[in-house]
Amino acid sequence: MDVIKNTFPITTNITSAGKLEIGGCDIESLAQKHQTPFYIYDTHHIEQVCDEYVNEFNNIYDNTQVVYGSKAFANKSIFKIISEKGLGVDVVSGGELTLAVLSGIPPDKIYFHGNNKTPTELELAQEAKLTKIVVDGFYELELLNSLSKKNGIVQDIMIRLSPAIELDERTHEYTTTGILDSKFGFAIDNGDAEKAINLISEYGNLNLIGIHFHLGSPLFSTKPYELGIRKVAQFISDFNNFDLQEFSPGGGFAVPYTREDSPPKVKDYASVICNTMNDVISEFNLPKPKLVIEPGRAITGPAGVAIYTVGAIKNIENVRKFISVDGGMGDNIRPALYGAKYEAIVVNRLWDERPKEKVTIVGKYCESGDILIKDIELPEIKSGDLIAIPVSGAYSTSMASNYNMNPRPEIVSLKDGMDQIIRKRETFADLFKMDV
Ligand code: LLP
Repeated sequence: MDVIKNTFPITTNITSAGKLEIGGCDIESLAQKHQTPFYIYDTHHIEQVCDEYVNEFNNIYDNTQVVYGSKAFANKSIFKIISEKGLGVDVVSGGELTLAVLSGIPPDKIYFHGNNKTPTELELAQEAKLTKIVVDGFYELELLNSLSKKNGIVQDIMIRLSPAIELDERTHEYTTTGILDSKFGFAIDNGDAEKAINLISEYGNLNLIGIHFHLGSPLFSTKPYELGIRKVAQFISDFNNFDLQEFSPGGGFAVPYTREDSPPKVKDYASVICNTMNDVISEFNLPKPKLVIEPGRAITGPAGVAIYTVGAIKNIENVRKFISVDGGMGDNIRPALYGAKYEAIVVNRLWDERPKEKVTIVGKYCESGDILIKDIELPEIKSGDLIAIPVSGAYSTSMASNYNMNPRPEIVSLKDGMDQIIRKRETFADLFKMDV
């Protein structure tokens, strides 16, 4: 099945009895044990992708640090896996930062991003002795300089630049970040980036050690990386008032969500990014910095699968057949927010060879826009069937909400036939435990 090959985790297997297995575990049995909705992660898949990023990039540019964009899915057990693989972590809040520190990620491998870090978050970063605070704007520069002065330290920082690289329409405007009209970073084109670098050398308590930019998520072409690296490298080659130790073109590596998607492979991204780095280093006579790449979606997205049970079915003759599942926009807002497309399979009908019918999979939330998949061909579905939606491991549960006071789902990791809960399902009591 194309859909299994292109979108499910690498350990996925259909047994001779027609049963779906991931990580050596039978998904139907897991659904009985854990109750739906729940998310599974194939941890072998995560490990394999980490290795692939580390190896493909270091093969061409031997000083590459891979950093996991943890906004895709921040979780203690996942941090442990990626840290064992040598990855760092990109965090964007006090919450993600605290989890990274508690998970034992070394402070020099924690990259702290964000366009509006609060004074409390910056204090926390200094207490944790971070050396990669990625400053995003003038307000933060001033704030961090005075905080460093107060704490009697010179703080190592990177700065985020906005190189004005347009992306094609396959990247949603909400996730396009490296353009002039963006809340992120110091723009090169209007002189802000130059002003920031000069300010830093005038301020006494900040030490600029690197440059970062992030163009958007996901990028379906490698070209923007080449354009971005060239533009930023040329821009920084004019300065001799800082020591370029790190250079980061961010994340944004795409993954196939549907059987038709064929984004660049890891080695294609590696080849363009690393070769452009090598070119600009000699062309602009730069010292060879550490290359820092920040895949988020690519590390945890394809390893994750959402499992739901079908409840209500509503057929409106000649209009639409709605299949309602026990989750929806509360655990995956991406279709509603970005028009994101997904595949689905009916876990307990993989053997079903009958003609398929067109259905729309919707959630249980009180919104007509609570659609997970519009118009998908599936075998005839009955209430009680199990639906699996692949490539659900990034930006689904991390963007989840308790809308309509629904508890967020359980998350289970699978490996070698063993299942382990890595995040418990919320209870109804959890939903109002903060109410007074
Ligand atoms: N580095 C920085 C500075 C970022 O802002 C991001 C993502 C990443 C790395 C990781 O990007 P990735 O490799 O995962 O594409 N909620 C959206 C994606 C928002 C991404 C925000 N920044 C979605 O569901 O598609």
